[in-house]
Amino acid sequence: MPVIFANAPGKIILFGEHAVVYGQPAIAIPVNQLKATARVMPNPLGQPGDIRIQAPQIQLDASLADLPVDHPIAAAVRLAFQAASINQPPAFTLQISSTIPISGGMGSSAAVSIAILRALTNFFGKPLTADQISALAYTVEEIHHGTPSGIDNNVIAHQKPVVYRRDQPIEFLSVKQPTHWVIGDTGETTPTHETVADVRQHFQANPKRFSTFFEQIGDISRQAQPGLIDGDLPLLGRLMDQNQCLLEKMGVSSPTLEHLIQAARMAGAVGAKLSGGGRGGNMIALAPSENAAEIKAALIDAGAKQVFTTILTKGRES
Ligand code: MEV
Repeated sequence: MPVIFANAPGKIILFGEHAVVYGQPAIAIPVNQLKATARVMPNPLGQPGDIRIQAPQIQLDASLADLPVDHPIAAAVRLAFQAASINQPPAFTLQISSTIPISGGMGSSAAVSIAILRALTNFFGKPLTADQISALAYTVEEIHHGTPSGIDNNVIAHQKPVVYRRDQPIEFLSVKQPTHWVIGDTGETTPTHETVADVRQHFQANPKRFSTFFEQIGDISRQAQPGLIDGDLPLLGRLMDQNQCLLEKMGVSSPTLEHLIQAARMAGAVGAKLSGGGRGGNMIALAPSENAAEIKAALIDAGAKQVFTTILTKGRES
């Protein structure tokens, strides 16, 4: 049997994080230059069921049988067995690697699950649809952070810009005018489940105030949708700044994020905000095309640990 591998991209949320957990719409795009990869290497000399999992970036080199059932990687592997109706898997080694910053709000956990699900179901000759992969990855996301909205698994499994609303059919965004985005990594990380849990606590303590924040963010995502299709920079920039202001009030921003956001705005970004769970992780700036390089340089000068650029183009992201 040949070695089989599969990839899954990173993602970035343009509008609506956190509020999306409470049923509001959010908009996210795949980031194809970052990816998680899963490689299945058959071991014809091994005993059936003898499965080794190697993920050097998280110092994991273990037998599947030794991993707890709620280990996210083990869960993804077992879900792939179930989906492919495999009771007695042949011996193999599964190698996992990723260029997506971990706990940086760029979907690294969902991308790793999706790469594993794709690689294994292909290996067993039972490839799944994007919707099936997304649904399985969602159950792994629940292990990671309890109450995921489902946006990460959807945007990554479909690899298309999406307008996502919990329990609603997924909507794809087909843009007419390209927009340029610069992403800056603070290098600081807070696991998403922590910021999501904090927001929930604040919401429970002050439901009226937080419901209003969620609704205002939902309105921002709704207004941003036509703006993204038409490439309306002034509108999008304003909406990003408003979204950031609400995320700050909700307590998920951080001084480092705000420092990078300010640096991007000073270098000509029309708007900038944190992206993902917050309190570290990544920020995103909308750049007039002629300013993208300047904004990138300004973010590096301001201390960003990594900077990525991405263009949202006709019906896809490049
Ligand atoms: C994580 O990428 C975005 C959050 O809105 C959490 C979620 O949607 O599950 C913070």
